[in-house]
Amino acid sequence: MKNTISTFKDLKEKGEKLALLTAYDYSMAKLIDSTGVNGILVGDSLGMVCLGYENTLSVTMEDMLHHTKAVARGTKNALLIGDMPFMSYHTSTYDSVKNAGRFIQEANAQAVKLEGGAHVLEQIKAIVKAQIPVMGHLGLTPQSVNVFGGFKVQGRDLETARELIEDAKRLEDAGVFSIVLECIPSEIAKLITEAVKVPTIGIGAGNACDGQILVYQDMLNLFDDIKPKFVKIFSDAGATMRTGIKEYIKEVKAGSFPTDKHSFLVSDEVLNKLY
Ligand code: KIV
Repeated sequence: MKNTISTFKDLKEKGEKLALLTAYDYSMAKLIDSTGVNGILVGDSLGMVCLGYENTLSVTMEDMLHHTKAVARGTKNALLIGDMPFMSYHTSTYDSVKNAGRFIQEANAQAVKLEGGAHVLEQIKAIVKAQIPVMGHLGLTPQSVNVFGGFKVQGRDLETARELIEDAKRLEDAGVFSIVLECIPSEIAKLITEAVKVPTIGIGAGNACDGQILVYQDMLNLFDDIKPKFVKIFSDAGATMRTGIKEYIKEVKAGSFPTDKHSFLVSDEVLNKLY
């Protein structure tokens, strides 16, 4: 059944958890969608896990649209959320609405996500007014890596913890349908989850959130440039893939692949006429 923003609201009300993953291309989107996840985020983490950048700051609108279009073709049941990249909502509310609209109109996403609290409220309100569902994102917001001075857990002291709780309420008032909480202490995530009616989706934010999201390459051990503490490897697909690729090389070198089973043959009648 198709997940919508109403599904997200209903599941929080029922006390049922939401499970989300990222995806960046058609075949993985199709595989992930078939497992029953509630949402697929085309995250700007694409910059790191697919494009090999050091952080997410180089990711452009064109990168995001290209990948979101591919993911949309493979997604039937999950709610598809496009991640607004750095500088796509920082310059003006006009640019924010225009760029959010491109995710819906050109790339077939059903919602967008953007990072930040008090300083992005006007943009969120304008996008919501344009009838586009918005997911908020608080805590370690990677597009602010240069302001934070690195990828650091947020909300550990009284002032920043209070600010996070206030920001979550502000986002809810601005109209977001859900809020990602990234790398904040579990206790603060719990307080936020209790303080807002919209579902909180944690990543490194403990077990009290209404749902969880992970980057699929992290949880399948397909990316080891960084190993955040919050990542659990649920299946070692990386090892399985390496074994398969090494076996392929071995058989190619030995001349045992391909056999007739994986080849196309012509009839003896045709073949004899060629000699
Ligand atoms: O870009 C991304 O993948 C994200 C998730 C980690 C929430 O923002």
